[in-house]
Amino acid sequence: MGRIIIFTGKGGVGKTTISAAHAVKAAKEGKKTLIVSTDMAHNLSDIFMKEIKEEPVRILSNLWALEIDSNYEMTKHYGNIAEAFKKMIPHGSEEDQEVLEDMVVFPGIEELFSLLKIKELYDEKIYDLIIVDCAPTGETLSLLKFPELFSWYMEKLFPIGKVAMKILRPVSKLAFKLEMPDGKALNDIEKLYVKLGKLQSLLKDREVCSVRLVTIPEKMVVEESKRSYMYLNLYNFNVDGVYINRIIPEEIDNSFFDQWKQIQKSYLDEINATFSNIPIYKIKWYEVDINGIHALERIMRDSLEDINIFKVLKTTVNETFEKTEKGYRLDIYVPFADKKDFDLFESGTDIIVKIGNFKRNIPIPHIIKKYSIASAKLNNGVLSIDFEGEEGVCNE
Ligand SMILES: Nc1ncnc2c1ncn2[C@@H]1O[C@H](COP(=O)(O)OP(=O)(O)OP(=O)(O)O)[C@@H](O)[C@H]1O
Ligand SMILES: [Mg+2]
Repeated sequence: MGRIIIFTGKGGVGKTTISAAHAVKAAKEGKKTLIVSTDMAHNLSDIFMKEIKEEPVRILSNLWALEIDSNYEMTKHYGNIAEAFKKMIPHGSEEDQEVLEDMVVFPGIEELFSLLKIKELYDEKIYDLIIVDCAPTGETLSLLKFPELFSWYMEKLFPIGKVAMKILRPVSKLAFKLEMPDGKALNDIEKLYVKLGKLQSLLKDREVCSVRLVTIPEKMVVEESKRSYMYLNLYNFNVDGVYINRIIPEEIDNSFFDQWKQIQKSYLDEINATFSNIPIYKIKWYEVDINGIHALERIMRDSLEDINIFKVLKTTVNETFEKTEKGYRLDIYVPFADKKDFDLFESGTDIIVKIGNFKRNIPIPHIIKKYSIASAKLNNGVLSIDFEGEEGVCNE
């Protein structure tokens, strides 16, 4: 079985450097490795000092690199769909428009096509390990939540299946106030829908895929790392490693750095404490910037010695449904979340958990549909939602 490791973190913290160091290490260990960048501002070419394009380029024995052009992927495979969605917008009601605009204009939609490309590469079974160097966090988060969100919209918009759509299309302008996609686009939409489902299962498969956070010991970055960790957990990804980059080496004896060392120490302590349940790797601040294989090998030797580093290092269980006396309880792991940022709704077949700007629709399993939410509590980073009562009793 292949393995996918996704590196993410705030802009400029060292994602490309650290993912490239992993790629070199894996290749040297004899693993057939592909490093992929989904960031439109690619810089694998710079770090490997070689031109890298939309198809894998060989870097070393066992190592290939690829810079995905998501626009290219989208127009190549899904041009019809994008067109169809765009066409739908001007005809929709205000509510429809909102949904559709979210879908088409949502930052990250192109990046979704990078993920589909990664799935394609994974399915080819050529590589033992695929390392993904992502765009800075904000974009990664929308990228990672997108397959789920998109599937959800598609289900809401196209719940009736293609055949029914064919019959309905002539009257759709009246019935839905929407211009329905034509047959070809519809076909593509269905195919995309199926692919997204598979992509979701792949990204959430705890034996294959995990996400690693890159951070540096500075206030703003640590705060953002905690937030990302929470959101990644909310979206049910397995985060199994944290990398603290740019640590000032102890031996630096220069008074200018004395206070910086103190500052870094306090954030190192904070990171150690807050991420104590997952492995943490530390990378020092080197005297030069990191370019080329030799520089990457230094990081490899200094910080990435762990022989298990490519394994799934932790499998957090993020979501559990369990039977209680009066019904069921859904526990969702959302570390560092603040009570005041929470909102919770029931909407048809879903529960919507909203934290700050992020919203996730969690489909309710069939057996729970006859119960409704009785209470929700946030305790030690776990949101527990209790469902109680038979249909008709507690549903008012
Ligand atoms: N530990 C380190 N010591 C010295 N220089 C470093 C270290 N880590 C990264 N750098 C340098 O910092 C710069 C930014 O690193 P990198 O490109 O890996 O960050 P990134 O997170 O991928 O950035 P972006 O968000 O722009 O993609 C590069 O010039 C890199 O060589
Ligand atoms: Mg980068």
